[in-house]
This record gives sequence, structure tokens and C-alpha cells, in this order.
Amino acid sequence: MIKLIKPYISFDEVENEFREIFESGWFTKGKFVEAFREEIKTYTGAKHAYLATSATTALTMALKALDIKSGDEVIVSDFSFPATANVVEDLGAIPVFADVSLETFNMLPEELETKISPKTKAVIFVDALGNPSGIHQIKQICQKHNLPLIEDGACAIGSSEFGVRCGNIADITCFSFHPRKLLTTGEGGAITFNDDKFVDFFEIKLNHGAKIENGKFDFIDFGYNYRLPELQCVMGIKQVQKLDDIVESRNLIRDEYRKHLESLGFEIQKVSDDIVYNVQSLVFKIPTHITRDELITHLKANDIESTIGTYCLSGGTYYAKKYNDIQPNAKLLEKNTITLPCYDGVDVKFITTKIKEYL
Ligand SMILES: Cc1ncc(COP(=O)(O)O)c(C=O)c1O
Repeated sequence: MIKLIKPYISFDEVENEFREIFESGWFTKGKFVEAFREEIKTYTGAKHAYLATSATTALTMALKALDIKSGDEVIVSDFSFPATANVVEDLGAIPVFADVSLETFNMLPEELETKISPKTKAVIFVDALGNPSGIHQIKQICQKHNLPLIEDGACAIGSSEFGVRCGNIADITCFSFHPRKLLTTGEGGAITFNDDKFVDFFEIKLNHGAKIENGKFDFIDFGYNYRLPELQCVMGIKQVQKLDDIVESRNLIRDEYRKHLESLGFEIQKVSDDIVYNVQSLVFKIPTHITRDELITHLKANDIESTIGTYCLSGGTYYAKKYNDIQPNAKLLEKNTITLPCYDGVDVKFITTKIKEYL
């Protein structure tokens, strides 16, 4: 089976550090956690970085840091993975779905403007499939309305807009290191930000509410454990160090697919000028005369894994029933986009030949 993604990490790369960890018995809160945090700060340019067990827990903590509470509204990009809205819902707050561009798949500025209400307390911009196109414009609107911006950068490590890397644009950014991501720690996530005012919150809340005050350790608040263990951090460090090469090679594969597919009516997700795109997921809009799910079935019959682009959050059964506010562009993209395998050594010619056969 040609898989959708292969991890950019091998056992050989981590073997020495894994042995060191097993021999020392130091599995958590050690030097590799600190080193991974440093790597993320250096890579993204953000002043602060904390680790978490996933982007979902990272996003939850970001919302808590902004004191999002029951009844507050949080505007979210509608073309994403459900976690983007789930974290809002989980706090009793209201996810307000903003429709996305049919080209970049990202939140439309005019949608954001019209969805802002007196109850809006934050905005979650999603770098759809790793593409940060438009985030600076969204940031400007947020600043105009004095609203904090969270970047759901679950897919976006390695991407940038106008030379500023994801992780260093919004007020708070959350990354995912799930195995579908191009940097994986098995499961995992990170939170980055520049404003010192959040430091105490994350220091204390991510440490069970504990703080050392006047030399005395005390649980001054309630808190959580979303720690990423040492072994996972070793994996992360190895991949951050080669991230730029990974991004470059994925872009070459993207170009090769385009050569074969655009003449057949497939439209690539648009990446604006001034973007470095990590090609987290290689997504095309399919020609209008074919059925996406049939194409996925045809590829599967030829041992090629493919999947949908991503989800229209407002159209999922739970959110559609509760809010009845389905966004048309996101709905259309959920129906007519396909993700194709993308990693070093993938046989683009074979895959595109099978697509031609189907057509
Ligand atoms: C945009 C987006 N947000 C959040 C998540 C959740 O990430 P995690 O699995 O690390 O919780 C994902 C996962 O695919 C995602 O794509």
C-alpha cells in the first residue's frame, strides 16, 4: 500500500538518546523536554514555547489562558479538523463558524468581520492543511477589534507568511505532532507565544497548579498534566533540525503532482505569494465531472491511500444539529477535495497514471 505519509524519523536517529533515557531512568521533565522547547522557540522565532500531549490539549490551554468561559463566542475557521471547534464547545463557549476561501481554504476576512459580535472573545484561525495564507490580514482585523488571535497551527510547523514563521504571528499558536503531521512525536503538541503575560499561566497550569514562592513549593491553583515525555521530545528535536529540508522536498513533490494533474482539471490548494508552505497535506480540488469518493475507492483498489481534504465543521452532525449554520464554501471543499500521498520517494508517476486511468 502506498501510504499517505511516512514519518521523517527512523529508530537509528534516536537510538543513542533513547538508550541514555532508559539507562538513566529519567523519562519526564528532563533535559530533552527543555531542549525541544528551545528548538521550537529558535525555529519559530517565538519567545516562549510549552509542550503538550496534542494540539487539542494545547488549544484547550490556549483558550483557558485567554479566560474563555461559558457563553463566550469564539470565531473559528470552518474548514478544519473537529478539534478546532470541540475545544471551544468543551468550555461551554460557542464556536461561531467563519467560512473559508475556495482557493486558499482559509478564513475569509469579510466573514470574520461579519461574525464579530459583542460576545466574541477570541478568534481561531486555522492554517488549513498547513497553509497560513491570509493570517496577517486576519491578525489586523483582530487587532482592530481588540480580539486575541489563536493560530490553530496543528498542520503548520515549517510554514510562514511574509517571512514570519507560524508560531510567531498570532497571540498564541498551537501545533500538533500527530503521526499524520510532518513532524511527529507519536502524539504531541506545542504552544508558542511572545507575550510574557501568559508565562505564569502556563508554568503553573501545566504543572498541576504548582509554584515555588519564597523558596516554598505550593499548589497555588488547580492544574493539569499534559506533559510530553522525554522519549517523544528526542523524536521532536531530531525532526525540527531537518524541518527546512523536509519542507523543501515536499514542495518539489507538490510541483511534480501539479505537472501531471493540473492539465486534467485538478486545482491545487492556493498558496499566496510570500508564503513558505510546508505541504502538510497535498490537497487538490477535483474536476467537477468526477466523484471524489469513487476516485478514493479506485486508488485504494490500486493500493494507493488517499483521503478527503478535511472537514466542514459546521456540517458535522453534532454542530449542524446544535447551531444549524452550515458554511457553503467549507461544505463544498469537504466534498470536492482529495489528499494524495506526499513524502520522499513516493511514486508520483504511478499515482497520477492511476488517476488518469480513472478519468
Ligand atoms: C487543524 C487541526 N487542529 C487540531 C487538530 C488536532 O490535533 P491533535 O491530534 O494533535 O490533537 C488537528 C489534527 O489533525 C488539525 O488538523
